[in-house]
Amino acid sequence: MKKVVTCSQMKLLDHETIHSMHVPSLVLMERAALAVRDEIVKYLLGKNPDGSWQHERVLAVCGSGNNGGDGIAIARLLHLSGIHTEIFLAGNPDKMTEETRRQWEIAASYQVPVTNNPVWSEYTVIADGIFGVGLSREIAGKYREIIDCMNQAEACKVAVDIPSGIHGDTGAILGVAFKADMTVTFAYRKRGLCLYPGRMYAGKVVTADIGIYDRDPKGIQIAEKAACHMEQTDLAELPLRAPWGNKGTFGKVLLIAGSPGMCGAACLSASAALHGGAGMVKIQTVEENRVPLQTLLPEAMVTCEFNEEANQKNLSWCDVLVIGPGLGTDGVGRERMFWFLKNGAAAKKPVVIDADGLNLLAEHPEWQEFINENTILTPHMGEMSRLTGSSISHLKEDPAAAAFEFADRSGGACVLKDACTVIADQEEHLYFNLSGNSGMATAGSGDVLSGITAAVLCMYHSQEEKPPVSYQAAMAVYIHGRCGDFALRKKGTHGMTAQDLIEALPEILKLSEG
Ligand code: APR
Repeated sequence: MKKVVTCSQMKLLDHETIHSMHVPSLVLMERAALAVRDEIVKYLLGKNPDGSWQHERVLAVCGSGNNGGDGIAIARLLHLSGIHTEIFLAGNPDKMTEETRRQWEIAASYQVPVTNNPVWSEYTVIADGIFGVGLSREIAGKYREIIDCMNQAEACKVAVDIPSGIHGDTGAILGVAFKADMTVTFAYRKRGLCLYPGRMYAGKVVTADIGIYDRDPKGIQIAEKAACHMEQTDLAELPLRAPWGNKGTFGKVLLIAGSPGMCGAACLSASAALHGGAGMVKIQTVEENRVPLQTLLPEAMVTCEFNEEANQKNLSWCDVLVIGPGLGTDGVGRERMFWFLKNGAAAKKPVVIDADGLNLLAEHPEWQEFINENTILTPHMGEMSRLTGSSISHLKEDPAAAAFEFADRSGGACVLKDACTVIADQEEHLYFNLSGNSGMATAGSGDVLSGITAAVLCMYHSQEEKPPVSYQAAMAVYIHGRCGDFALRKKGTHGMTAQDLIEALPEILKLSEG
């Protein structure tokens, strides 16, 4: 897992490194500039494998804050590497920070060329050092015009720390934003580089170690409280399948799903759970769905019984419950959900609530008393809006806060599904998901996620030391996204279906086996 920080956490980390550890800020700036210089040189070498990159021209556009100081230092280092590099000071020279002024003086000593009137089409690379995490308000006036010019240029665009105009915490565009091909961010990825549209404006993100010290004055890790994102190496953390195990060992999923005319959701969820490694899957559904489900998915068991005795038997049989895919919100769906939610909670089973399960919960907020730390709720923005009464646009302004608030209120882990899914729980765990693509915005994709989540819960259910369910949910979301990225190569975004995600699942899980 890698950390994801807010702007204020990053400022605190910078401050502590400089003031408690006595690392001069110019040293941090130099390391930051070296990291960006290296990426730009790599790009130029890639473009000119014969080494003839002398004719290439780089422009560093710099503000008067420390992001501008980084930009000036980058220009100096490139200049010293023999690459024609010019500085365009977009910021107010009278408002330079101490560090930026010093960089400006050093650049002058080294005679780094300065331009006041750049011809934007002349450059191979444009580095954006106008605003970093210090951006505090909408961009207007001359900065707006400059960023427009930078965006229109043909050059490879490299953002320093974060593209100018992107809010470091929310990913929102403050007026206008630099559209980078690559962002070299320092120490930790910022939230605004995870959330859209910031994530799109950042292009490829490279995280550079610049020697930030991660302790506050009491010795407590600052980034410990930060959010995380999963990456491929985390797949190796998934529990291995015991060689002596049997289908009972690997987890039994009970799926409360399907209603008349809604058999597909149950099928996709059950199929994803089976392809994700669940030992056994039983679908509790309505009689109309029995034959199609048994035909489509012979590996799953199907029960249409719904009475106290049968329910108790099914509940005590299972290790994990999934409630909701295609369940319907009529009286029958309501009864089925209520029984299994209430008794599942009493039996302390991990429960995933998705789709109509969430719609029913929105209609019956009093059922929230059956939600506990073993419950995972997986609303998309529309379902979240129904659950909370907040508008979708409001939720999108700060999805992390929305997920936290709902987790706190409900007591479960909240998986707030969107282009960047955010996972939060009551214990202040927070994850941003970076896998996946727009091809996954297709019918049934959420049903597949509920099945993958059940499969991940099954992997951990017999472990003595289990990570929090929010971690397990974040892992499932990451795997789901990786399935989408795998399917992308074969099908592209237009042709991808939920079934493609299920077919990709074994390929992604194989990565966890080394
Ligand atoms: N329009 C004009 N000026 C603005 C705006 C705006 N919309 N928003 C902020 N400013 C001004 C602030 O008043 C401040 O002077 O820009 C400056 C902030 O610039 P930054 O370089 O983003 O902030 P700073 O804290 O100095 O540096 C942070 O330094 O550690 C490096 O690159 C790293 O992102 C990091 C940056």
